[in-house]
Amino acid sequence: MNTAQFIPKSTTSNIKEATFTWKTPSNIALVKYWGKSNSQIPKNTSISFTLNNCHTITSVKFSKIDTVATVNFDLFFEGKPKEEFTPKIAEFFKRIANYCPYIFDYKMVIDSENSFPHSSGIASSASGLSAIAMCLMSLEKELYPEITSDFINKKASFLARLGSGSASRSIEGPLVVWGNHKDIPESSDLYGVRFPFKIHTIFKNYQDAILLVDKGEKQVSSTVGHNLMHQHPYASNRFLQANQNISKITKILSEGDIKAFVNLVESEALTLHAMMLMSNPYFILMKPNTLEIINKIWEYRAQHNSNVCFTLDAGANVHVLFPESEKKAIHKFIDSELAVFCQHKQYILDEVGLGAESL
Ligand code: DP6
Repeated sequence: MNTAQFIPKSTTSNIKEATFTWKTPSNIALVKYWGKSNSQIPKNTSISFTLNNCHTITSVKFSKIDTVATVNFDLFFEGKPKEEFTPKIAEFFKRIANYCPYIFDYKMVIDSENSFPHSSGIASSASGLSAIAMCLMSLEKELYPEITSDFINKKASFLARLGSGSASRSIEGPLVVWGNHKDIPESSDLYGVRFPFKIHTIFKNYQDAILLVDKGEKQVSSTVGHNLMHQHPYASNRFLQANQNISKITKILSEGDIKAFVNLVESEALTLHAMMLMSNPYFILMKPNTLEIINKIWEYRAQHNSNVCFTLDAGANVHVLFPESEKKAIHKFIDSELAVFCQHKQYILDEVGLGAESL
């Protein structure tokens, strides 16, 4: 794998001070990433919808200093210093140092805010890390003006991946594939690429309502969950199935086969949770209200000949997915029948988005 392409040569450019601000989205996987090997290499290919409304806005102010041995940064979240995020970001800088050696020449002040409620149970690492990665790439563009926008997106995804795998899918949109796959040209284990085929119009403005069932701390971190796939009795079949699902969904997304989409996406969500149920130690991340919502969705779908479906990430919240044509009816359904299963009746209406934006 060619990681050398991401190591910059030394430069004579001298940027004394610069501030960059990026808004980057969260994403929701349709075919899930669950299982990885060292340096964040996925065991199977995954694909996600990029979201629009759930995002992070991050500014990084770079001020030139004498080169230091340990990365020098201050971190603010919603205007206040955020000690508990510092170790994760310090670890991120450690992992990317080889590819961004210029970070040792700057003091960085990072200012971040999320559009979604703090500790809503929505993973903020994908949007948070991709935003920092884009700010770093803006500095790199100043230092190396010859780099192309294609390279910037690729390397930003590569850097974000080293922080958190799913963050590699939060640079572009509307659909991003991460992980090398025989049917997806240019796909790579190192970074996400935009879904390279025709996307049927029905999927271009797909809707996602995120029902906040449980806003508590996750009982099991993603990293622990991924690691449990190492001794998992069903791991190799799961990786095979996921890669087959990538081939299937490629056709579904191009042809607009919504019934097949519903089946594949729900099966992926339940398989992800089945892997958790069958690992050792075993764990259950769904809550009783997660199941109440799933049953209501199935009931509604049958009664109204609807195409609404659900997916889950590694938690209890439910992503309700539906085509734009059903927006009015599904909003009503959520409000009258599903919101009651959410903490404080909270949910977030989102839709497919196009990726990172410079502000
Ligand atoms: C269930 O990207 O959070 O959401 O690479 O350890 O940071 P790390 O894991 P993370 O895993 C996400 C898992 C998932 C499925 C997915 O988004 O594909």
